[in-house]
Amino acid sequence: MAAHEAGAAGFEALGVAGSAEKVLRASRIPLTEPGVHVWRVPLRPSELDLTGSIALLSADERDRMARFHRDADRDRYAIAHGNLRLLLSSYLGQDPHDLVFATGTHGKPHLVSAPAIEFNLTHSGELALIALSRNRAVGVDVESLGRKGFDIPALARRVLCPREHEWLFRIEEHSRAQAFLRLWACKEAVSKAAGAGFTAGFAQIETDPNVLFSERSQQLRAVGGNWCLHVLELGEGYVGALAVAIESAGSS
Ligand SMILES: CC(C)(COP(=O)(O)OP(=O)(O)OC[C@H]1O[C@@H](n2cnc3c(N)ncnc32)[C@H](O)[C@@H]1OP(=O)(O)O)[C@@H](O)C(=O)NCCC(=O)NCCS
Repeated sequence: MAAHEAGAAGFEALGVAGSAEKVLRASRIPLTEPGVHVWRVPLRPSELDLTGSIALLSADERDRMARFHRDADRDRYAIAHGNLRLLLSSYLGQDPHDLVFATGTHGKPHLVSAPAIEFNLTHSGELALIALSRNRAVGVDVESLGRKGFDIPALARRVLCPREHEWLFRIEEHSRAQAFLRLWACKEAVSKAAGAGFTAGFAQIETDPNVLFSERSQQLRAVGGNWCLHVLELGEGYVGALAVAIESAGSS
C-alpha cells in the first residue's frame, strides 16, 4: 500500500510512501485534522495477503464475499476490506476484529465505535483506494481506464452540466474518454463524500474542468455540502478523485 496525504484546506498532495508491513508495525498512525490520507491498495493478492485479509473479516463480510460468483471478485473484496480493517485499526490503535461498521441511508459505511474517523473506499480493476480523515466527510473514487464500450455522448448528456459538456467536446477526441472518466470520478467522489452515491444527480454537481484539470483542486457546493475536490494522480491505467468536507463535522 502507499499513501498520499492532502491537507483539506490547501490540498497539496504530499505523496507519503508506506507499505502494509509498515502499517502493521506502526503502533498508531497519526492523523490530525484537516489532513486526509489516501491509501493505494493493489488488488492482485499473493496467497499470504489473501489468507491474512480473509482472517480479518467479520462473519457478515465473509458472507458478502462468498456471494460473488467469480474467484477474482471474492479475492478483491477480501483484500479491500481486510486492508480497510487493518488501516482503521492502525489509526485507532484497536484490534481490527473489534471494529464495528454501520451504514447510512444510502449505504455509506461508518465506524460505530469511532465516528470521528471518516473513511471511504473505492475499487476498480485491480486497484482500491482508501481515504481517511478526522472529522471531515470524505469520498473517493477510482475508475479503471480499461473500461471499454461506454457511450460517452449519451452518458455526458445525462451526467454533465452544460459547462463541463462544452469543455469535453472541445478537447481532442483521443483524450475524451479519459477526461470523461475523470469528471465522472470527481462527481462520484463528491456524491460519496455526502453519502448519497448514485442517488445524487451528477449533473447538479458542477465542476469547473478548466480549474480541475490545471490546478487539480477546487472548492464547490453540491449535494447539501461544501467540498474541496482534488484530482488524484494515480499513474497509468487509472483516474481518481477525492472530495473532502470543508467544514469539520463538529462545526455548523
Ligand atoms: C456508492 C456507490 C456510488 C458506489 O458505486 P461504485 O462505483 O460501484 O463503487 P466504488 O468502488 O467507488 O465504491 C464502493 C464502496 O463505497 C462505499 N459505499 C457504499 N455506499 C456508499 C454511499 N452511499 N456513499 C459513499 N460510499 C459508499 C462502500 O465502502 C463500497 O465498498 P463495498 O461495495 O466493497 O462495500 C453506489 O453503490 C451507490 O450509489 N450506492 C447507493 C445506492 C443506495 O441508495 N442504496 C440504498 C440501500 S443501502
